[in-house]
Amino acid sequence: VFDFEKDIFITRERIKPKYLNYREKLQQHLPDDVIQELKKIGVIAKRSGFRAYLVGGIVRDIVMKRKNLDIDIIVEGDAIELVKKYAKENNYRYYYFEEFMTAQVTLPSGLKIDFATARKEIYEYPGAYPKVRKASIKEDLYRRDFTINTLAIEITEDNFGTLIDFFNGLRDIKDKVIRILHQLSFIEDPVRILRAVRFAGRFGFKIGKMTERLLKLAVDENLLLVAPTGRVNTELSYSFNEEKATEIIYLMNRYKILHQLIPEFVFDDKREEVINRLRDMIVTFEIFFGHKVDRVANYLLALMYHLPLDISYQFLERYHFSNGKQLFKLFFSVKGRFRKIPEKNSELYMIIKNIKKDVLVFLCSYLPAEISERIIYILKKEEERKLLITGNDLKELGLKPSPLFKEILDEIFLKYLDGEIKNRREALEYLKNKYKLNEI
Ligand code: CTP
Repeated sequence: VFDFEKDIFITRERIKPKYLNYREKLQQHLPDDVIQELKKIGVIAKRSGFRAYLVGGIVRDIVMKRKNLDIDIIVEGDAIELVKKYAKENNYRYYYFEEFMTAQVTLPSGLKIDFATARKEIYEYPGAYPKVRKASIKEDLYRRDFTINTLAIEITEDNFGTLIDFFNGLRDIKDKVIRILHQLSFIEDPVRILRAVRFAGRFGFKIGKMTERLLKLAVDENLLLVAPTGRVNTELSYSFNEEKATEIIYLMNRYKILHQLIPEFVFDDKREEVINRLRDMIVTFEIFFGHKVDRVANYLLALMYHLPLDISYQFLERYHFSNGKQLFKLFFSVKGRFRKIPEKNSELYMIIKNIKKDVLVFLCSYLPAEISERIIYILKKEEERKLLITGNDLKELGLKPSPLFKEILDEIFLKYLDGEIKNRREALEYLKNKYKLNEI
């Protein structure tokens, strides 16, 4: 068991806690109704002889002026008792886990507030499940992953809005550095290897020297391979959904994290190009085609397209990415179609016509750039298809609705793709000539 007063190595000196008045910043950052709830919680905490603190990511994000409404509250005292009073007085829904000393309240707006009793975890021997014991806020914050996540803002009535910095979290935010709090951090929780690169990538922070050394050591010791696979799934999924996913992937590569997770992983120029293009394709498909891209499956494919399908499946199953399997399978089933690319857009359209958008996202990142540009061009034209000509136009031209309609509309669209028909006027002209129809 670590004694944080002695063992904290990040400064090699005792750190004096810093207290800052964050009342106004808190009020600026959070919506008024949330502030009112925090105040109510603070009043009950005071009345019960407890102290309550806003902690974790939300405090970091208040300092960094980033949006976040994940409200985590730590109670010095008894979180469940506090929640029972708070929820009952306000008639809010709540539930709790006695065993974990945690509780959650759902506000009428749907916003959820998580509560936990301040705790420390005692490992009776290495690898043992930790025993959870009540503790001080400082001890609670000490067991966390990185200094930037150890800030707290007190919300107890008599001290509402005081930011408390026990472990130089403020300094590390200012210096843009990710630091663990003690030497055993990655060993106690190897998932932190992934979290370190996720935060570093997300914020553009570097990893502190000692932290980096210990991270490399943890990777060398294959610790990630013993981490619970469900938690690895969660972290990877978060990472690939981050705006800065590519930066995070580069860091995962630099620290050989990917080599550890993915069999025969290679990071070559081609993969770097695919990953960069994928980042742009995701934006293109989401903005132009309103398609919500499965980023996780796409990034996984970008990392594993070189592997035989059964090896990728083993990885996907081991880490519970079974949803991603479909994308891999579809990609491999259509890949061969692109060995020889036809010159005419209409023919290329016939090749991609039935391919799911998520697969196209990847294909457009993977195939030579001039081909993916043509695919994007075709998809944009497809979006405009309705503006060109519709079944209604055909009816107005005097045609009787029949399965032929689809064929005619397809024919027009294919000619449009090849530039033989340039606009609606030309489309109508073509129809009139071909089918000897009357003027509208
Ligand atoms: N935490 C930890 N070790 C982990 C996971 C979480 O110490 N392996 C701590 C972190 O200090 C974190 C808090 O638990 O601040 C809450 O976890 P989570 O919600 O995952 O982190 P956030 O910092 O809120 O991350 P995000 O901004 O991505 O929501």
